[in-house]
Amino acid sequence: MRVSGTTPNLDARAQRPYLRAMALREILVVPHPVLKQVSKPVAVVDDALRVLMDDMLETMYEAPGIGLAAIQIGVAQRVIVMDLAREDEPKTPRYFVNPEIVWASDETLPYEEGCLSVPEYYDEVERPARVKLTYLNYQGEPVEEDAEGMFAVCIQHEMDHLDGVLFIDHLSRLKREQAIKKVKKLVRA
Ligand code: NI
Repeated sequence: MRVSGTTPNLDARAQRPYLRAMALREILVVPHPVLKQVSKPVAVVDDALRVLMDDMLETMYEAPGIGLAAIQIGVAQRVIVMDLAREDEPKTPRYFVNPEIVWASDETLPYEEGCLSVPEYYDEVERPARVKLTYLNYQGEPVEEDAEGMFAVCIQHEMDHLDGVLFIDHLSRLKREQAIKKVKKLVRA
């Protein structure tokens, strides 16, 4: 997920040649068919998965974005990275492996969302205002956590990615087509 007011960095590696080549991964954009895939649960949180999570985080920071699902870099595993810290705050990276929502509030929260896979398009989506989730953390330990506000919005947005759903899929068909058209134009430019 990304917040409005940030400029997309479509060719980050070319602009930052000093970054290690392994770290930055290409972010797929609509209408790439891989984004519609359903991701598979992770069997074990090991060093190989932590390398993936590190790369995802660096790719997300560089974009810049506040959340990224593995499928957005073409890896169909149920893994999400996130950092909701503001620019003037210390970084607070978070990792979610095999996340599940075990409870959602009836109360909803409308929020203007954006997505690194739908650059330069923002629109309002209404989701449950609060959720309870379970996941494995960076060390593979099970965690249960309550989410509200921006955290609730972002984790639901990212978990949609794991099921092949984009935030524009919550909008009307007309708006979705407009968004994809806008991205195609942006990529061509
Ligand atoms: Ni997204």
